[in-house]
Amino acid sequence: MNQMSGKNALLTGATGGIGPHIARALAANGINLVLSGRRADRLRELSAELRSGSVRIETATADLTRVDELEDLAGNAVGALGQIDILINNAGLEEIVPYQRQEPAQIQATVLTNVMAPLLLTRILLPAMLARSDGHIISLASMAGRLAMPFGSAYSGTKAALSEWALSLWMELQGTGVKVTAICPGFVTGSGMFARKGRDAPGSLGSCTPGQVAEAVVKALQSNKPEILVNSMPVRPLMVLKSISPVAAARLGDKLGLLEFLRSLTKPAEKAASE
Ligand SMILES: NC(=O)c1ccc[n+]([C@@H]2O[C@H](COP(=O)([O-])OP(=O)(O)OC[C@H]3O[C@@H](n4cnc5c(N)ncnc54)[C@H](OP(=O)(O)O)[C@@H]3O)[C@@H](O)[C@H]2O)c1
Repeated sequence: MNQMSGKNALLTGATGGIGPHIARALAANGINLVLSGRRADRLRELSAELRSGSVRIETATADLTRVDELEDLAGNAVGALGQIDILINNAGLEEIVPYQRQEPAQIQATVLTNVMAPLLLTRILLPAMLARSDGHIISLASMAGRLAMPFGSAYSGTKAALSEWALSLWMELQGTGVKVTAICPGFVTGSGMFARKGRDAPGSLGSCTPGQVAEAVVKALQSNKPEILVNSMPVRPLMVLKSISPVAAARLGDKLGLLEFLRSLTKPAEKAASE
């Protein structure tokens, strides 16, 4: 039996994209799950699939933009499994659009889903983890939060906030038995918010699969790393360059095709706006 087997996890964003891949990987490692999202039908389907194994699978619907639902979500998860040892903040919201065209309500939903919900769910579940000297908070951040993402600036800003928060908390919780990890995927192919756009990113920017992201989550649980990057291309050098010269990093990103590619993803919105 591995160290993870028998632990209990709350997974947000379990209804689509990368979430079900993470759920399957965790269940395969013997982790009991509370699956969460807004779409109850998807939660029912995934729980029926995973219940055929030996793990306990429960579901809890919640809208993460509703701050008043977060206490209930955490309470229902603890009630369902007895305790939550692992919180996986996976749910996220992204829109590729020129910032001046992004609806204020969408900006607000992005901040609530990508930052406020992970921070508050952690705040609710952390005291019990600290009391047991055991726990792990894993958050799906993004390369977009480490290297900037033109035309996805609200998304990028929230993911940068999530990354810095996670690293701060990782430092703060050293020696407590509670671990913190930010997982930073690049463009994810096959399923998820980027794959739905139906266009491949330039090869020079790299990519990864939902399976690789799920593997990174399992790897995180076996280590005490504050951050795991998931991308087919080495991106640390670009991050180092950005810390020395944001302008040089932006120019290099431009040369690699980032700006042009993301601009091209806004085209359907521009067309719709002109019709
Ligand atoms: N896909 C990529 O290329 C990529 C790259 C880097 C990082 N990431 C990060 O990886 C995570 C998963 O991404 P993904 O591609 O799987 O996204 P996705 O396919 O769009 O799925 C998003 C998930 O979040 C849930 N969600 C969204 N808004 C919610 C809300 N208000 N309340 C509750 N749940 C909500 C959705 O469930 P319901 O609709 O059922 O509520 C869904 O399960 C995100 O944090 C994302 O930022 C993705």
